[in-house]
Amino acid sequence: MPGTVVVGLQWGDEGKGKISYLLSREAEYVVRFQGGANAGHTVVVDDKELRFNMLPAGAASGARPCIASGTVVDLNEVMEEVQLLKSIGVNVSPLISRNANIVLPIHRELDSMIEGMRSGEALGTTGRGIGPAYSDKALRIGIRIEDLLHREILENKVKFLEKAHGLKITGIDELAKLAENFIENICSLEIILNDLLDNGVNVIFEGAQGTLLDIDHGTYPYVTSSNTTVGAVLTSCGIGPRKISEVVGVMKAYTTRVGAGVFPTELKDESGVILRERGREYGTTTGRPRRVGWLDIPLTRYCIKINDVDWIALTKLDVLSGFDKLKICVEYELDGETVKLTSPSVRLLERVKPIYIELDGWPKLSKKDWEEISTKGWDSLPDNAREYVETIEELLGKPIKIVSIGARVGMEVVK
Ligand code: IMO
Ligand code: MG
Repeated sequence: MPGTVVVGLQWGDEGKGKISYLLSREAEYVVRFQGGANAGHTVVVDDKELRFNMLPAGAASGARPCIASGTVVDLNEVMEEVQLLKSIGVNVSPLISRNANIVLPIHRELDSMIEGMRSGEALGTTGRGIGPAYSDKALRIGIRIEDLLHREILENKVKFLEKAHGLKITGIDELAKLAENFIENICSLEIILNDLLDNGVNVIFEGAQGTLLDIDHGTYPYVTSSNTTVGAVLTSCGIGPRKISEVVGVMKAYTTRVGAGVFPTELKDESGVILRERGREYGTTTGRPRRVGWLDIPLTRYCIKINDVDWIALTKLDVLSGFDKLKICVEYELDGETVKLTSPSVRLLERVKPIYIELDGWPKLSKKDWEEISTKGWDSLPDNAREYVETIEELLGKPIKIVSIGARVGMEVVK
C-alpha cells in the first residue's frame, strides 16, 4: 500500500478477482488497467457468486472502481456490472478514463472472422473483440470514450472506421446514449490517481489475464492483445514506478489454460479429468473447459521476475486434496539434457519434457473441514498440504502470504 498491483502468474484464471477483493477491503479505489470484457473474475461474498468481466472484482468490497486508459471498454458490461453491484447494496459509480478505447460490435465480428480464417490454428479467443479493438487503437482509428460525448467528432471517426474496414459500423447510437449516463464519470483518471497516491490513499490495481498471456512476454502468438504485466499499470494509469509499493502475484496450486497454445505440464489423462471436475475448471466468460496440468516452476519463476513480485497468493489448494501423489515440474529436459528457460518461447516449450518432483498428497477433506481450517489458520492444514505450499515457496524464493480455498471470501488462510 498505497499502490498495490495484483497480477496473474500463469495463463489467467488464477483467482485474481478474489485476492483483489480481499486487498480492496483496505483500499478506497480499485483499478482495471488493461484488457476488456475478456476477463472473468469471480468472487463469492455471503454465498452470492459475483462475476465481473469489465469492472474490477475488488469493487464488490465497496472500493470505487476505475477503468484506466489502457483498457478496451465494453460499456454495456460496465452498465450491467454497476447494476450487479447495486443488487448487493454496493452503490459505486466507476471512474472511466476519457482516453480508453471502446469495443464496438464490429470488433466482435472481426474477432470471430479472424479466428475463422486461422481454422486449425485458431487462438481460441474469448470472442469479446479484444484483438480488433486494440488493433484499431494501434492504428489510431479507434474510438475513445470521450468521443462518444461529441456527436460531430464521433460521426467523422465512424465514417473513417467504416472506410478503413470496408464494413458498416452499427451500435454507435446506443453506445453514445449509454455514455451519457457516465458523463460525470468520464475523467482524466491519470490526474486523479496521481493525486490519490500522493495523498497516501490506498489503490489496488487489478490485473486481468495472466503474465503468460502478455502480448510481449507471454507465449506469443497464443496470448491476449494487451500487456498484462506490472508495467501496464504505469502506462495505462499514467503513474510513475515509485507510486507502486507492492506487487502481489496470484497463482493457482496447479496450472490451467483456456484456448490454444503450448502447455508443458498439461495432463491429458484421467488425473486431468479429475482435476478439471474437482476444480470446476470451466471458463467464467465463455464456459469452455479449461486445460489443466501440474504446477510449472520454471514458467512461474519467469513470471515472478517479469513483474518483480513481492509475495504470492496461492489459490484453490483444496482442489488438490484426495490425490495420492502431487507433482511439481522443477526443470525441463530437452534431448536428454536439462535446459534453462530464458523466455517462454513457444518453439522451446513445444519440445521440452517436464522434470517432476513428487510429493505425498493428503486425504480428501469435506467442505466443513476446510471451513474449520479457514477459521483455525495455517497450522490446522494437513502436514502434507503445508509441505506442498512450503515447497513452492522454496522453489520460487518468494513468500506465500495467502492460501485461498475456493472463491468464497472467508475461505482462506493468511500466513
Ligand atoms: P482472466 O482475467 C484466461 C485467453 C483466451 C485466448 C487468449 C486470447 O479471467 O484471467 P482474447 O479474447 O483475449 O483475444 O483471447 O487469451 N484469455 C484468458 N484466459 N483468463 C482470462 O482472463 C483470459 N482472457 C483471455 O482464452 O486463449
Ligand atoms: Mg477468468
